[in-house]
Amino acid sequence: MTDHKNNAIKYAKEHQPSFLATLSQFVSIPSISTNPENKNDMLKAANWLVEHMGKIGLENAKVMPTKGHPVVYADWMHAPGKPTVLVYGHYDVQPVDPIELWNTGPFEAKIDGDYMHGRGTSDMKGQVMATLNAIESIMQSGHFPVNLKFCYEGEEEIGSPSMAEWLEENKQLLAADLCLNPDAGMLSKETPTLTKGLRGLAYFELKVTGPDHDLHSGMAGGIIHNPAQALAELISKMHDEDGKITLPGFYDPVYTISPEEHEEFAQLPHDEAFFKEYAGVDHLWGEKEFIAAERLGGRPTLEINGIIGGFTGEGQKTVLPAWAMAKISCRLVPDQDPEQVHRQMKDFLSQHAPKTIRWELKKLSGSPASVVRQGQPGLQAMANALETEWGKQPVYPREGGSIPIVGYFQKIVGVGSVLTGFGLPDDNLHAPNEHLHLPTWSRGTRALIHFFFNL
Ligand code: BES
Ligand code: MN
Repeated sequence: MTDHKNNAIKYAKEHQPSFLATLSQFVSIPSISTNPENKNDMLKAANWLVEHMGKIGLENAKVMPTKGHPVVYADWMHAPGKPTVLVYGHYDVQPVDPIELWNTGPFEAKIDGDYMHGRGTSDMKGQVMATLNAIESIMQSGHFPVNLKFCYEGEEEIGSPSMAEWLEENKQLLAADLCLNPDAGMLSKETPTLTKGLRGLAYFELKVTGPDHDLHSGMAGGIIHNPAQALAELISKMHDEDGKITLPGFYDPVYTISPEEHEEFAQLPHDEAFFKEYAGVDHLWGEKEFIAAERLGGRPTLEINGIIGGFTGEGQKTVLPAWAMAKISCRLVPDQDPEQVHRQMKDFLSQHAPKTIRWELKKLSGSPASVVRQGQPGLQAMANALETEWGKQPVYPREGGSIPIVGYFQKIVGVGSVLTGFGLPDDNLHAPNEHLHLPTWSRGTRALIHFFFNL
């Protein structure tokens, strides 16, 4: 066993160049799940995974259709009496816009010193490959110590809209003792992280319409309520002066952060100065009675992801636009329900929208917050693995991001997740110039090798 493990670690170190080459290939496929024009690339990425997983010795690798983008399944079940690990990942990525702010092509996978640049390098093709590289290293050095199943989805970055239904139909196939989910990242290069909670998300599109066509602002301004203005007025009422969300009943189900949990938040390595530096701002914003780490991990939010309407080109145009639209999302904490938040948003709009405009609200996706249960299978194995590689114990934060499948795996398949990952806060996730810190990535691969043996 120790020989096997040492050989696997050695294999991983020696095969760094080929690992980099395969990651480049994977990153070069523009698998943007939200873009209809990338539908074929989604299939291409799924097929690429199937082929790669077959090559490293996994079995039954196949693309399985869902109502939306397909799932890649595979397994390796030759360790009778040993636990079964369900390995999770997503092969889809976020859009690249604003493209003009990228210093490299987003799908060029350019390596520069310690970094690989490209959309999905950190979130999370790099993490998928760290896992597959760890598994390859162990497979090539002897008999794998546990059983494996894989679920690589193509819809995480759009809120996993088809996954609950697909899991209902395939829960037997995915039955496992624990799920390994390396999509949660780490707090810094020297802070191994075992995330213990994630926020949920409810995503909306709000369209406000007024006149039935764009009007000359001189011939309509002052007599017609401008839809862009009306949208701004509505949005501005969604928070009060204290930064509280004003949707009726929004905070009613929200759990209370206990004094003990407050202490845990306070002990996380990031202070206010870190967040200012990370975002490039002089002042933070938000609920004053909560510290920054708490506002990120333990409090719900309402964000405007984008607004569009009227004339936004160069120069000027005097127009009163016919419509305006905003993308609005709420990060949710226990025990909020995304459907209830949808109703609260509709109630808010019914109460506040003026008669002078019409509004239409679409719910694009919704998933509740997730919590990792203490003592859950695999947690200790991962804590020890991270400690072996980093020489210190991991931290256990509640984090601000969302991974819808974590809750679905728990509820539908009955399997809890071990949440970790080797992406860093300054990797520019979802932003221009996303990159992956390669030394941390390699450490992650080694930590995952330890993890499989620790089980
Ligand atoms: N890897 C992230 C989630 C994440 C980020 C967890 C940082 C912990 C720390 C994931 O790929 C992601 O971005 N998820 C989306 C989900 C949403 C569309 C439902 C998110 O959080 O915006
Ligand atoms: Mn993401």
